[in-house]
Amino acid sequence: MEKTGKTDSLNCSKKVVIRRYEGLNEQEVQRIFSEGMEEMVTDTAVRGLRHHPESLLLYLAITVSCLWVSWWVIVLLPVAILYARYFYSLRTTNSCTKRALSTDMADIEHFYMKAPGSCLWVALLDGAVVGLVAAMQRSPEVVELKRMSVDRRYRCCGIGMALGRKVLDFASAQKYSKVILGTTNYTSAAHNLYRRLGFHCVGVTNGYHADSTGPGPSLLERLFYRVRHHHYELKVQHKENMD
Ligand SMILES: CC(C)(COP(=O)(O)OP(=O)(O)OC[C@H]1O[C@@H](n2cnc3c(N)ncnc32)[C@H](O)[C@@H]1OP(=O)(O)O)[C@@H](O)C(=O)NCCC(=O)NCCS
Repeated sequence: MEKTGKTDSLNCSKKVVIRRYEGLNEQEVQRIFSEGMEEMVTDTAVRGLRHHPESLLLYLAITVSCLWVSWWVIVLLPVAILYARYFYSLRTTNSCTKRALSTDMADIEHFYMKAPGSCLWVALLDGAVVGLVAAMQRSPEVVELKRMSVDRRYRCCGIGMALGRKVLDFASAQKYSKVILGTTNYTSAAHNLYRRLGFHCVGVTNGYHADSTGPGPSLLERLFYRVRHHHYELKVQHKENMD
């Protein structure tokens, strides 16, 4: 995938330190996580469209079937559809962010630092938090990489790789056999990063995915919020296996 969005605001030679979360930078961690989530709104609403030909066909069918109303429909309906996609993408993403900020991201100590087999790390540059990643135990053999996010101003300098490697080292030290993760990103950055770390895509769930514990999605949500959920896996290399 093509690499875009290279930042030039950071001198990449600066030393980034990855360390365990210590409870001092909660607001910065939450900000970087929330901003990363926000980016997914337009990503899903606009970029995601070309990955869902079935949605395009459906929108075309709706437009054509409304043509008898007025020819203006040809102009107005696509705009309304894009707006609806943006609206539902914003709503679903905000509700995921809110849920995270009221559960694990509200009590990092409890969910990651004190929970067995889990952890959250921050990337520090000149003492300031510029990224985060978490590992959450799913079973005694499996750990999930979650909450990967790097501050926009400090991207493309290897911070995501350094955070990802920390999770892999942790998985190896904790004797996990597999690291899993899921992403609904359409941008190439996250997919390239995970592949560079050695992950393989093991499945794609098409259609609606909102990670919701509340009532199911409405018809409009199903129509306008469609994503592909990529499931990635990596088999952990233990020292003795590598000899
Ligand atoms: C995905 C993300 C964490 C990458 O962080 P980063 O610090 O910029 O990543 P790195 O500089 O370590 O880059 C590592 C690899 O990722 C890929 N990559 C990073 N940015 C990229 C971009 N803009 N376009 C394409 N590939 C990119 C490249 O393969 C890169 O390796 P290379 O430089 O050797 O080619 C960052 O873009 C981000 O926080 N995005 C918003 C939140 C998000 O989407 N998180 C993932 C949720 S699943």
